[in-house]
Amino acid sequence: MPVSATPPAPKHFLQFSDFSREEFDHLIARTRWIKDRFKRYELYQPLRDRTLAMVFEKASTRTRVSFEAGMNQLGGIAINLNRGDTQLSRGEPIEDVARVISRMVDVVMIRTFEQSIIERFAMHSRVPVINGLTNEYHPCQILADVYTYVEHRGSIRGKTVAWIGDANNMCYTWLQAAAVLGFKVHVSSPAAYAVDPGRAGATAPGHWAAFADPAAACRGADLVTTDVWTSMGFESENDARKRDFANWMVDAPMMALAKPDALFMHCLPVHRGEEVAADVIDGPQSVVWDEAENRLHAQKALLEYLVCGHVSP
Ligand code: CP
Repeated sequence: MPVSATPPAPKHFLQFSDFSREEFDHLIARTRWIKDRFKRYELYQPLRDRTLAMVFEKASTRTRVSFEAGMNQLGGIAINLNRGDTQLSRGEPIEDVARVISRMVDVVMIRTFEQSIIERFAMHSRVPVINGLTNEYHPCQILADVYTYVEHRGSIRGKTVAWIGDANNMCYTWLQAAAVLGFKVHVSSPAAYAVDPGRAGATAPGHWAAFADPAAACRGADLVTTDVWTSMGFESENDARKRDFANWMVDAPMMALAKPDALFMHCLPVHRGEEVAADVIDGPQSVVWDEAENRLHAQKALLEYLVCGHVSP
């Protein structure tokens, strides 16, 4: 190909609804296969000589480690770019950063603020772009969460997920996942923080319902999940949120209203005694450590899919 030729438009994972149910079925099957091989210490390196650039405009532990370790395990390398170390911090336009980085690497992961930033990057990128968290969505986390549910309980289709607390990027990504994969989300947030039905395709009928009472939202649920009351970027609201969300802590009485075999998930980091009681997150229904580990395996399947296409075992 001549050096200046424009390659075909790449596939991106900017929000959960970018992929079809069939693509998620493929990713879940590949995650299981890749995880099983990894647990048997069998090398699987389809991304040899491939490079991932990771751009972080916000803090991270799980996303950073899982993408870097995953890329290394697949035979490639990952380059970490913190905003303060790049020309982004000195005003270089995101479009120019995208044009340059995507001529040098094979795939890009970005954690940033507004969704519009990652969309502008993707529009000018020659290679696939992955959303590693924006203010609006966290699709890699929900991919791992859905895989974790499937691993423990089988298909999530037709099940009920109770989302208790802030209607944040995790909540909206669960709503997208429900519409794509065919399950239901019960959302309970304080009235002043209520879910916006116009966002995230949340108007899809039959896939979500709002509850004023968090206990009512948990009743009959197959999975109860929550997140911190104050997401990154909203720290100035912390004191007000602690007051406003005081009745939205997931505790043992709430879990008792869910199905007897219901799971508890939290994307972490957690504030025990705020959004969840310690005896729930550290209790027998909690799968949060599997959930965190599965970021690694699910994102390896995602990287394989975006870089290599539809790989069969
Ligand atoms: N859950 C999650 O995205 O964790 P980090 O913020 O540590 O990456």
